[in-house]
Amino acid sequence: MKEETMRIAFTCNGKPTAVEARPDMRTLDLLRDLLGLTGTKEGCGRGECGACTILLDDEPVNACLLYAAKLQGRRVVTIEGVAGADGSLDPVQDAFLEEGAVQCGYCTPGMILSARALLRKNPKPDVPAIEEALSGNFCRCTGYGKIVKAVQRAAGTAGS
Ligand code: FES
Ligand code: FES
Repeated sequence: MKEETMRIAFTCNGKPTAVEARPDMRTLDLLRDLLGLTGTKEGCGRGECGACTILLDDEPVNACLLYAAKLQGRRVVTIEGVAGADGSLDPVQDAFLEEGAVQCGYCTPGMILSARALLRKNPKPDVPAIEEALSGNFCRCTGYGKIVKAVQRAAGTAGS
């Protein structure tokens, strides 16, 4: 039986984007396989690890659980859309590097997008707020301390 596809139009990293895809395709697969945006990672594939985090209308969501049809008309940001047009790193990316908050790096794209969403809403978060915002993003390497410090550094609250 032929699988039905639909045209899905959305904004991806600031650019108008349209793909022909099955409505029930996972957004994770659409981004990686149809758009080549492989910075979005697959960890658990069931909404538990946060490796696949993207921003949908500025809110962090798990791309492994989001059907492609749900992207229609929405605004998506992946880790590829975070750096400046000139290739300069986002302040949150800089802070992760400066604090040594990246080891294997598998969790990092999702962490950075969750951190950006937090800082947009709460530019000076305290540690509990940072921990809460990152609670859906698992890291097997760093023990989280450096990640929290990196978010504090990006917020300009390191040492407070
Ligand atoms: S791969 Fe999506 S939450 Fe783990
Ligand atoms: S740096 Fe390896 S999972 Fe976080």
